[in-house]
Amino acid sequence: MTMELTQTTQIKRVGVIGAGQMGNGISQVLAQSGFNVIIMDVSDASLKKALGTIEKSLAKLFEKGKLPEHPPVIMSRIKCTTQLKDFADCDFAIEAVSEQEELKKSIFKQLDEILPAHAIIASNTSSLPITRLASSTKRAGQFIGMHFMNPVPVMQLVEIIRGHATSENTCQLTKSLAEQAGKTTVFSQDFPGFIVNRILMPMINEAFFTLMEGIASAEDIDAGMKLGTNQPMGPLALADFIGLDTCLAIMKVLHDGLGDSKYRPCPLLKKYVDAGHLGRKSGRGVYSY
Ligand SMILES: NC(=O)c1ccc[n+]([C@@H]2O[C@H](COP(=O)([O-])OP(=O)(O)OC[C@H]3O[C@@H](n4cnc5c(N)ncnc54)[C@H](O)[C@@H]3O)[C@@H](O)[C@H]2O)c1
Repeated sequence: MTMELTQTTQIKRVGVIGAGQMGNGISQVLAQSGFNVIIMDVSDASLKKALGTIEKSLAKLFEKGKLPEHPPVIMSRIKCTTQLKDFADCDFAIEAVSEQEELKKSIFKQLDEILPAHAIIASNTSSLPITRLASSTKRAGQFIGMHFMNPVPVMQLVEIIRGHATSENTCQLTKSLAEQAGKTTVFSQDFPGFIVNRILMPMINEAFFTLMEGIASAEDIDAGMKLGTNQPMGPLALADFIGLDTCLAIMKVLHDGLGDSKYRPCPLLKKYVDAGHLGRKSGRGVYSY
């Protein structure tokens, strides 16, 4: 039998697994909101880089008068480790490691053994089924999707995904945690792409078809969508920002999971990924950086 938490006020310590771009942003917003955070990563270099990124971001916010506390006070709430066993006193764990199902499942299995019985496990996965990830633990009722957007300190939304067995109490505690971290939440059932990527990725994929078919230049496609539909970034520039490999992986999940040919990944998107032109992170995607 599991022992569930009943109030978010009981969530004092949050463990974040993965110190990459998402993990460090999640850790920052939680520490800013008064939670004690422990970040775990297998790579010391990633942990060091994450602390540097958070310090820089806090310094900027402080300069702009957007922080109620001095950055060192917030930093003092963040600890780092390379050992999951240091999560033994966490009330809530948020996984943000690389998007590989087997890797995530092996982490959940270990967390299930290490965390206290009342603790909730959340995954920040962009595309993997929450129900399937939850089945690697014995606490499917206390397992949930908590999909932060990139960059976490800036983006308002957290998409919360109910797995097949996620309890209502887990949903409400997760919503409350996200709101305490200054975010607005929406709930999605556990279907491929959830809400945001189900709608966003086919649009990005269609922008690649529009480019491939020679209908317009990349610049005109982006300007058309930016100015004609009031989006802050055109779909191709946004794809470069997200990472073309990530966009391709999500399209594959939609195509496999929903089985409809309208989700087939655009061959031009595949070609960019094959060429290693992954967007901003590799210096080149649709555009050069
Ligand atoms: N980048 C985005 O725009 C975005 C948006 C929403 C959700 N996500 C999701 O967030 C997750 C992380 O993405 P990211 O962009 O931060 O990736 P990233 O590559 O920046 O970071 C991943 C981190 O995981 C660490 N890691 C790998 N194996 C590990 C292990 N066994 N234990 C602990 N840490 C380990 C790596 O060292 C790295 O620091 C993915 O599931 C991704 O789909 C990403």
